[in-house]
Amino acid sequence: MSDINIKKIKTDSDLEIKNSNATQKLYIETYGCQMNVNDSEIVVSILAENNYATTDDIKEADLILINTCSIRDNAEQRIRGRLTLFRQEKKRKPDLIIGIIGCMAERIKEKLLEQEKLVDIIVGPDAYRDLPNLLQQVEDGQKAVNVLLSREETYADISPVRYAANGVSAFVSIMRGCDNMCSYCVVPFTRGRERSRDVKSILREVGELVDNNFKEVTLLGQNVDKYKFEQENGAVLNFASLLKVVAETYPNIRVRFSTSYPQDMNDEVLETMASHKNICKHIHLPVQSGSTRILDLMKRGYSQEWYLNRIDAIKRIIPDCDISTDIISGFCTETEDDHKETLKVMETVGYDFAFMFKYSERPNTFAARKFEDDVPEDIKTRRLNEIIALQQVLSEKANASKVGKVFEVLIEGTSKKSPNDLFGRSSQNNTIVFPKKTYKKGDLVNVKVLKHTSATLIGEIVD
Ligand code: 5AD
Ligand code: SF4
Repeated sequence: MSDINIKKIKTDSDLEIKNSNATQKLYIETYGCQMNVNDSEIVVSILAENNYATTDDIKEADLILINTCSIRDNAEQRIRGRLTLFRQEKKRKPDLIIGIIGCMAERIKEKLLEQEKLVDIIVGPDAYRDLPNLLQQVEDGQKAVNVLLSREETYADISPVRYAANGVSAFVSIMRGCDNMCSYCVVPFTRGRERSRDVKSILREVGELVDNNFKEVTLLGQNVDKYKFEQENGAVLNFASLLKVVAETYPNIRVRFSTSYPQDMNDEVLETMASHKNICKHIHLPVQSGSTRILDLMKRGYSQEWYLNRIDAIKRIIPDCDISTDIISGFCTETEDDHKETLKVMETVGYDFAFMFKYSERPNTFAARKFEDDVPEDIKTRRLNEIIALQQVLSEKANASKVGKVFEVLIEGTSKKSPNDLFGRSSQNNTIVFPKKTYKKGDLVNVKVLKHTSATLIGEIVD
């Protein structure tokens, strides 16, 4: 799952939920991946039915929820910092309820409640429906915990409240959990077993978004290529068929997805992308390492050769597709030669974009139990810096190659730098800024790229 780098996602006050009957105020902060953003939308929806409207102002809140991420240690440390701050708020307002939800709630459970006395309520990713009961328990003077993982829960019937969305693009969860068990990864422990959501409820949710003028959906799952849903007539729908049915049922909406898994991403998915104009031409295909030996230790289930074969397939079937990735530097036993293999793969693929991380040992994972975290910190840092520097060169090259070309752009809003400019994203997921003319958020326009900075393309609308 692509990680949005532990960014705090703020409520867009324009879209604040003004639930007119609500008497209670919820302040919610979200860390981690897109899946967590979508989960917060589900939580807001559940609580909107239970007398809560959202607020952007901590001081106004009756309930503070922090939706957490455990993927790396630094994510958890930052969240602990925020919790300490919220406790100070509670000193000022003793009735304030503080809840920790999401992956970190699942991972450290009672520890937060008992040893650290930081929170009143702890809810794991599969237990959000229980929030109203848990809140009642807290109001009755108890601490409340539900971290049960489920094999079935997909929140299929809940329409997420898009409180933090831009009004144009929204996340739609198609599956939950992960069965891959990569040796470094905490996700299977925090989000439980893989399960796919009923296609009918996915189509219903996309339909609601279309009715509300949304123009783009991102289908979310930890490993979307494993989507598998048995319909009432016994037919089994795989991810390629799901993409096809979403794209064909709603031809006027753009469809994205995240995250693909190299071992499972097949040509059928690529061919479906190529044959549907409204399926965006961008694939996030985490490589993690370029070394087959390290990939084995990571239990990724593919070799460098296999990965590069998948990249060749993307380039052959969808020549105008952008490719992004995730890379971990300094995994257990990584040598200089392994690291060089990673740099080599980066060059061979020519990634348009990458999320790059230092390995962070997570308690109880296979790697933590079986391997020593033996690459010294300074070497991890140096290797990561080399990876980042190379990616800068590759991104620069990719951006330069787009100058002079025309892309269809979905307008997402006004540029932060100038009120006379708009910005949006191309099908390939590049951000492009251009003078607004008479266009507005939500319009699809053709933009010719004229120049670029390191992260942004700059262009003009061509009619
Ligand atoms: N240490 C560092 N990075 C990690 N990721 C997952 N687990 C770890 C870890 N223990 C990275 C992977 C994954 C992304 C979401 O986070 O690259 O694809
Ligand atoms: Fe998302 Fe949880 Fe993984 Fe963080 S640990 S990236 S919140 S699934």
